[in-house]
Amino acid sequence: MSSAAAVLTRDPVRDGRSAPSRITVAPVTPVIGAEISGVDLRQPLDVETFAEIRQAIRKWRVIFFRDQDLTNDQLKAFGRNFGPLTPAHPISEGLEEHPEIWEREIGEYRVRRTETDTRPVGARPPRDYKGWHIDITFVANPNSYSILYGVSIPAYGGDTLFASLAAAYEGLSPAIKTLVDGLQVVHQTSSYDAGGPSRAPRRDGRSIGPFVSLHPLVRIHPETGEKILFLNPGTTTHVAGLKERESQALLDLLYGEVTRPEYAARFRWAPNSLVVWDNQAVAHAGPVDYAHFGETRVVRRITVAGELPVGPDGFRSRPIEGELFNILG
Ligand SMILES: [Fe+2]
Repeated sequence: MSSAAAVLTRDPVRDGRSAPSRITVAPVTPVIGAEISGVDLRQPLDVETFAEIRQAIRKWRVIFFRDQDLTNDQLKAFGRNFGPLTPAHPISEGLEEHPEIWEREIGEYRVRRTETDTRPVGARPPRDYKGWHIDITFVANPNSYSILYGVSIPAYGGDTLFASLAAAYEGLSPAIKTLVDGLQVVHQTSSYDAGGPSRAPRRDGRSIGPFVSLHPLVRIHPETGEKILFLNPGTTTHVAGLKERESQALLDLLYGEVTRPEYAARFRWAPNSLVVWDNQAVAHAGPVDYAHFGETRVVRRITVAGELPVGPDGFRSRPIEGELFNILG
């Protein structure tokens, strides 16, 4: 890995010379994903080191850290480098002492898979794309970054997949790009997120949905200006303004693009692994094999507040039903 490691070059400092890089960035595919070493995330990060981390995630979309033994407070402090944190989830609640942290165990995924497999034909929600999704797009202001920390990880199994939605857009032919640039799509709470009638009221009294939002199908990345195919296989129900079969055919075509293996990286977890992905430019799926192993898997997630997505034509996302994702700071 080290021989293939690409060392990031910092922007020239004011005196015109470049300072040495503080971190090492080792890409895992040519398209998406890089492992970062040479930084201890328990410590506060200086401005230059965080600038290098930010530069790495802009280029590689998802970054992986190993052997970071973090407390919950250290996890949140690291996340705040990217911006203010949100509550754990608009519907599910976080840890009682840490409302920004969403802890998840593998059993939740098994329930979801079982529900999906036993649903009568024709009664399933819009799509079942094997868990591929963007986080929290049923609200109009989805989180900008997602940060996931491995607490208890099985010896094998439980990997997470990440796909570049920038590559998915870039790979389209010019005629399809022109078509999708001007479209909006409806995203709504999935049956899993909604949790059915068993979902308990929140301690803080906030609404538990349903949530429905209208997003541009292509969003302009707020930091890089790139065009992103902002399609959520898990929660996008239809394309606004199209006939039903036109909408389904177009979404099927685009889902096939989003989930192409050449746009994806697969991450093998270990305890104390930390993953940060740009939720404005990445779809992810995982763990993909939860139905097939019986070991414990516990991860903790925090999310960084995001903006209302904006399309190439200036269309700005808006809620159709439900509140915006709020910010805890
Ligand atoms: Fe997710």
